[in-house]
Amino acid sequence: MDVPWWQSAVFYQIYPRSFASSRHEPTGDLGGIDAHLDHLAWLGVDALWLSPFYPSPMADFGYDIADFCNVDPLFGTLSDFDRLLAGCHARDIKLLADLVPNHTSDQHPWFRAARSSRDNAKRDWYVWRDGDPDTPPNNWQAAFTGGPAWTWDEATGQWYLHLFLPQQPDLNWENPAVVDAMHGVMRWWLDRGVDGFRIDVIHGVGKAPGLPDDPPEAVGTPHAALNDTPRNHEIIRGLRKVADSYPGDRLLLGEVYLLDTAKVATYYGDGDELHLAFNFPPLYTPWDGPKWRRQVDRSIDLIDDRGYWTTWVLSNHDNMRHRTRYGGSEDRARAALFLLLGLRGSPVLYHGEEIGLEDARIPPERVVDPGGRDGCRAPIPWTGAPDHGWGVTDPWLPWPPEADTRNVEAQTDDPGSILHLYRRLLAARKASPALQLGDFAWVPPAGAPDDVLVWERVRDGERRVVAVNMGAEPVALDLTGTVVVASDGAGEGGPFGGTLAGDHAVLLEA
Ligand code: GLC
Repeated sequence: MDVPWWQSAVFYQIYPRSFASSRHEPTGDLGGIDAHLDHLAWLGVDALWLSPFYPSPMADFGYDIADFCNVDPLFGTLSDFDRLLAGCHARDIKLLADLVPNHTSDQHPWFRAARSSRDNAKRDWYVWRDGDPDTPPNNWQAAFTGGPAWTWDEATGQWYLHLFLPQQPDLNWENPAVVDAMHGVMRWWLDRGVDGFRIDVIHGVGKAPGLPDDPPEAVGTPHAALNDTPRNHEIIRGLRKVADSYPGDRLLLGEVYLLDTAKVATYYGDGDELHLAFNFPPLYTPWDGPKWRRQVDRSIDLIDDRGYWTTWVLSNHDNMRHRTRYGGSEDRARAALFLLLGLRGSPVLYHGEEIGLEDARIPPERVVDPGGRDGCRAPIPWTGAPDHGWGVTDPWLPWPPEADTRNVEAQTDDPGSILHLYRRLLAARKASPALQLGDFAWVPPAGAPDDVLVWERVRDGERRVVAVNMGAEPVALDLTGTVVVASDGAGEGGPFGGTLAGDHAVLLEA
């Protein structure tokens, strides 16, 4: 198939602290990922995205980076990384690193130098403003703190900008030295062999000249969810040139946290910016047929129809897991996979959704994330033993619910588990050019209620039909074809029986 690898790939996000420990530690590490590569190959994912594993004081659990070109000892060493990358490639799995260009840690040598004096050569690598210590330079709000996006630096008598925590000062992308340095970071990892980057808060990097106030109606929304400037596009074109100077279709998958698909679409540029962008409005859409239909239509109209390739994601390390969001029903979590893998675009799965994990309940004394995101970051239970395969019984966050029975080992042994459903649907997708790359069209049978989504994917004469019933009641559907995969496993290999239960889904060869 003459398309870049990332167009047919299924991505799988690993949050390294929470995936697996090879060293009997309360936090996961790169060796832990390496040890489970056979499992990921068995599951059938094509590419891993690793959240940051770089040296970090961990104010934002790794998204505050103190050295872009190394591995935090908590996660291992550069040799561990090289081994992991080689292990992925040996299994034909791609690996994306997480590039965080918007900010560094306040402990990064660049910021320590910048902060040391107004005359330091690195001062202008960050965004400083004069003022008086009681009045921040503008009304921008930081994410996670509810306070201003500015911190007064007593020693040098100026404010510095941070769209996130005060420990995450924003880089000044107007300074060509910053642009060069970040291109250098990209090259450093690309030279090591990574297949591309997930890029953090890419829409945050280019600030509007003069840093104008956010409009009054936006007050209460962090500026990180609003920043959308022409300058971003120039910066991204620069990153794209670096990626494109390497062979092998190195990928830029950007986090564009602007909750409007029309805005997200602009970040594909003219085919010269991001290859792929996260589109979060569907993630925030409830389990509701008409609302989902609208989201799919927007994605088709605004991204596909312009010749770009969209992405589908329901869970990640920043949001409540979708099973929990959809009310906790495993049936819904199973049916949701048919959206992720059946719609046109590249799916991004989040570790643990394949065993139907719900968010952990975090008692107040165990809360560690200033952004309230601990629940979705609970460690993956690998076995039913008290240490769940980690070698410690008390990891950095509490175990997710039902870990004694809802774990990888138990579900591997149970062909009826959601884990096996993930594996079957991933295999069905890999075997079907129509599902991977085919055209999309709605094909609701006459009389199908609004809560039922039915679409086809077609390529080179091959046709697949997917039906998802988001309603609670069973519906009769006038569809014919062979059941390839059913969300409850029923009737696979036989003809579709004509009824789809509530919160169920089916993939047909038709
Ligand atoms: C992105 C990351 C999030 C992090 C933030 C600041 O949104 O996904 O985890 O806190 O950027 O780096």
